[in-house]
Amino acid sequence: MTARLRPMLKADLDRVVALERATFPSPWSRGMFVDELTQAHRHWIVADSPWGVVGYAGLMIAATDGHVMNLLVRQDAQGRGLGKALLSDLIESAAEAGVDRLTLEVRRGNAPAIALYREAGFTEAGVRRGYYSDTGEDALVMWTTPLDEESMSAVRHALQERASAALGAFEVGGAAGGAPLQHDLILAIESSCDETAAAVLRDGRELLSSVVASQVDFHRRFGGVVPEIASRKHTEAIVGVVDEALRNAAVTLRDLTAIAVTYGPGLVGALVVGVGYAKGLALATGLPLVGVNHLEGHLFANVLADPSVAPPLVALLVSGGHTSLVHVPAWGQYRTLGSTLDDAAGEAFDKVAKALGLGYPGGPAISLLAETGDASAIPFPRAMLRSDDFAFSLSGLKTAVITYLDKERRAGRDIDVPNVAASFQAAVIDVQVAKAVRAVETCGVETFLLGGGVGANRALREALRAAMGSRGVRMSVPPLDLCTDNAAMIAAAAHFRLWRGDALAPDAEAVPDLRLA
Ligand code: KG4
Ligand code: ZN
Repeated sequence: MTARLRPMLKADLDRVVALERATFPSPWSRGMFVDELTQAHRHWIVADSPWGVVGYAGLMIAATDGHVMNLLVRQDAQGRGLGKALLSDLIESAAEAGVDRLTLEVRRGNAPAIALYREAGFTEAGVRRGYYSDTGEDALVMWTTPLDEESMSAVRHALQERASAALGAFEVGGAAGGAPLQHDLILAIESSCDETAAAVLRDGRELLSSVVASQVDFHRRFGGVVPEIASRKHTEAIVGVVDEALRNAAVTLRDLTAIAVTYGPGLVGALVVGVGYAKGLALATGLPLVGVNHLEGHLFANVLADPSVAPPLVALLVSGGHTSLVHVPAWGQYRTLGSTLDDAAGEAFDKVAKALGLGYPGGPAISLLAETGDASAIPFPRAMLRSDDFAFSLSGLKTAVITYLDKERRAGRDIDVPNVAASFQAAVIDVQVAKAVRAVETCGVETFLLGGGVGANRALREALRAAMGSRGVRMSVPPLDLCTDNAAMIAAAAHFRLWRGDALAPDAEAVPDLRLA
């Protein structure tokens, strides 16, 4: 039998609560576990086996103190070292998080548990009389002596050695050596639009591989993404892209902790290819399937680039399908302040590029030409610049450009394409910047993120940086290859979701109009 340690998921809670009830006279409720999984500074793991979850443990971190909240091994799986494996993972994580002392309470009559904790360096520091209200039993309060790094690691190693020796037939992955607070290895798949992408990410920050197969060449001749072609091309590419991501990362499916996939928003025929493939992999490996909102992925591209980026913040999401300002008081809490009423910013770039005969995708072509053009040459409209909401409207601007081009052509005048590109781009940027600044001020945040393909636009980045910088607002922008669609950002968001206990049911479907909430 092999067992492995992995993050506790909300999907495990039926099992966990049943084990808890079968073992402890006053078991934790489901609500208590849900609460733990959504809190920060927690580390909850389960020992998973072919017979399901056979044990679990949790740690709370308060500055330099670590509190072992709970540790349980199913009765018929006891005596094989699983308790040691769970505890050694908690200690490992505690050490990674800078904890130098651990504490716990244990029933005075629970001799095997007390023996386990003593072995791990815990000693009795006191007694809480009648602590357990069910039986009136006393609790022993145990502490480890304050551990410097060296003795901490000695304890960990002693424990790990004995744990692996005692594991016998158990083979425990995930707990071995050097695991940081939230140790995982995630394979993520992205297929919401016209890029088939896969990436492997370790511990939410170490990107081992990121493969993006763009279908741009197939769509270019039609001047935009053709859904039927996207779906077919994803089907052709996905096996190779996933294999390449695993190969480049030098890992196999057996090494992974979870499979993640974008399940919305996007083109339904494109999404289902990634979701179907990810479901198949999850079923075949028994790994949890983590569903990621594509827009949350764009936000997390920033975290991948700079792990210190944290809410509260405001984000501007600008891509081919979206233009929204989002207030993020905490990761996982999203309040859309306003969105485009018609075209998305990327869509406007693409349509104007088409009208100028620049091909698809239009964003990169327009931004390149704009560099040599005069942004004040043509006064295109800045729709809703002065409206005191956070809505955008871009179709009027697109129409104004097309009308301008028609008029000039009819009058037989040559069109100065760089001037049109620069003037159009400036009109887009002026509104984006003004609304982003207002959003940051209204929400009173000091951090601003940019996400989505249009975030690759250099002039937009610079204008936002100047506006935010002059107000003392910290701005984060992902590197160019993390702005446009990729799976690395999906893996980063999945890391967050995995440790919150969020997983998709095996029969989950793509949700083309999934909202950020
Ligand atoms: O995020 P993304 O790769 O896909 C969606 O989720 O939509 O965004 C693609 C969009 C396209 O409309 C493309 O024209 C635009 O991003 N884009 C740009 C630039 N690079 C890509 N727009 C303006 N300037 C750029 N440099
Ligand atoms: Zn996107």
